[in-house]
Amino acid sequence: MEKILVIGAAGQLGSELTRSLADQFGAEQVIATDLNESAKAKFDFCRFQVLDVMDKDGLRNLVKNEKVTQIYHLAAVLSAVGEKKPLFAWELNMESLLHVLELAKEFKLNKVYWPSSIAVFGPNTPKINTPQYCVKEPNTVYGISKQAGERWCEYYFQKFNVDVRSLRYPGLIGYKSLPGGGTTDYAVDIYHKALAGEKFDCFLREDSSLPMMYMPDAIKATLDLMNAPSESVKIRSSYNLAAMNFTPKESYESILKYIPDFKIEYNPDFRQAIADSWPDSIDDTCARKDWGWKHDYDLDAMTKDILENLPNFKF
Ligand code: SER
Repeated sequence: MEKILVIGAAGQLGSELTRSLADQFGAEQVIATDLNESAKAKFDFCRFQVLDVMDKDGLRNLVKNEKVTQIYHLAAVLSAVGEKKPLFAWELNMESLLHVLELAKEFKLNKVYWPSSIAVFGPNTPKINTPQYCVKEPNTVYGISKQAGERWCEYYFQKFNVDVRSLRYPGLIGYKSLPGGGTTDYAVDIYHKALAGEKFDCFLREDSSLPMMYMPDAIKATLDLMNAPSESVKIRSSYNLAAMNFTPKESYESILKYIPDFKIEYNPDFRQAIADSWPDSIDDTCARKDWGWKHDYDLDAMTKDILENLPNFKF
């Protein structure tokens, strides 16, 4: 019987992934945790506990007392917020991962999941169809922490046999939670503004292409990777993962098909430099070959789904 601990469950990814985990493993087998007590309301379909991931003893006690067998460690400071608080971002992103990897080693956990990101790439990385293995010189604190985290994951797998698995997510777009401080967040926010009948003030240039993915694809990729037999998971740093690439202008134009009077203005800010340092598109051949990754959504399919469902979604 697996017992799943989700750390940072109320974030953008956790809000949707936790429900899928409860569907797969059963409500009683999944413990959603978050820093804020107020997050409890989101998790009426599984168990919930308040947890500060920096509370090393609290985390250890929870893993020990609940006989946790798998951890999904999703708590992190994202790219834009990380640039405002660099040392805090480094401390939270790195120390929390090391706590989790140490616990996995100590309690011989069955599996650990930890998300990485396209932010591990930097300005000297090939921008088009960025390969799995290439120059990585990230220049954001978030990217540096994800790159270092990938090295630690592979290290714990090789030295201590910790079955840790990871994906380099593109920008994730979902409508079930509000944006959380990332550079790709414009592509979430734009739908909220379009539906509210407001003009959208975009913080990136109209031609700034980034790799993106609709949340149902991200959830499917995560579960497929975690359910794959260990020997199929050949990469223990983190897998490149791709679905679609688009610019703010293309995102806007896909919404215009449904909301013809929607207006946009482009006012790039400090986040433009972050976007400029990331790839335009990603080569995810390894994920497709090793464990059969296949995406479902392109930009227009995603736009249709969000515009149909967001108006009825209760936060
Ligand atoms: N979506 C994240 C961000 O923009 C990248 O992983 O920070």
